Amino acid sequence: MEVFTSVVSLRSYLQSQRALHHSIGLVPTMGALHEGHVSLIQTAVSENDIVVCSIFVNPVQFNNPDDLAKYPRTEEADLKILEQAGCSAAFVPSVTEMYPSTPKTTFNFGPVETVMEGKSRPGHFSGVGIVVARLFHIAQPDHAYFGQKDLQQVSVIRQLVTDLAFPVQLVVCPTVRETDGLAMSSRNRRLNEKQRHLAPKIYEALNRAKEQLQEGISTEEVSRNVADFFAGFPDFHLDYFEVSDAVSLQTIKTVDKKNKTALCIAIYLGEVRLIDNVVF
Ligand code: PAJ
Repeated sequence: MEVFTSVVSLRSYLQSQRALHHSIGLVPTMGALHEGHVSLIQTAVSENDIVVCSIFVNPVQFNNPDDLAKYPRTEEADLKILEQAGCSAAFVPSVTEMYPSTPKTTFNFGPVETVMEGKSRPGHFSGVGIVVARLFHIAQPDHAYFGQKDLQQVSVIRQLVTDLAFPVQLVVCPTVRETDGLAMSSRNRRLNEKQRHLAPKIYEALNRAKEQLQEGISTEEVSRNVADFFAGFPDFHLDYFEVSDAVSLQTIKTVDKKNKTALCIAIYLGEVRLIDNVVF
């Protein structure tokens, strides 16, 4: 595996690969890699001649400086994981390499970002849009891989690709979970033993909510049940639980069996903010 820290060197490598008519898959990440990331890389490896994985903790998508400062950084271990997963190239730019000047352009993705993560983390998706657009321009991938774990991010990037005519095909990969159901996340490393023990309750609550909705219980009552459930655990602090249309991500009042529904949650466990979702 080749490791690139500069845009120029990655571009020149990929130019030579394109000259050989090699297809290129891109997997953008912020590092602290786990099996969720690995599943994206493995899918990309099976579908492309060349796979580039970027590791970049993107400062412009963090609206909370403390979250940015505490974001886990494990570059050496990450590079080993990428190599083992069959990745062809790692792109590990510094902040000044990625942003020679602080980007002044912002994105407003409209309705898809007025809810959930967009509402709770103002500016977050604009920062995601900036870095993903830069990565698409730099790598010019045929395919780009994203996880369902960040469902709203997928919708935002889909809109970015459509609205700005990026010639890239998005591939969405299922959420990889620990055996107890906790969605894998780089932030899980920040949980202490007690919090880690409690964390599977998030997926448990999502599944219970799904069953209740399928039994015909109203969205209001199910939402109340989720809030009441977490109110019973002082370590949890619910940010939001939303019953949404899985495509538009807009809140729905009644579940329509003809359309896919997403149950999305963001919750603090101690100081660590975790998100998860189920789609049915
Ligand atoms: P990061 O949180 O590192 O995630 C990188 C990719 O891995 C995202 O597409 C995310 O949805 C996916 N992923 C994370 N956990 C997963 C899991 N348990 N199962 C399946 N996929 C999972 O998302 C970002 O970084 C950033 O916002 C980024 C897109 C790189 C832009 O900076």
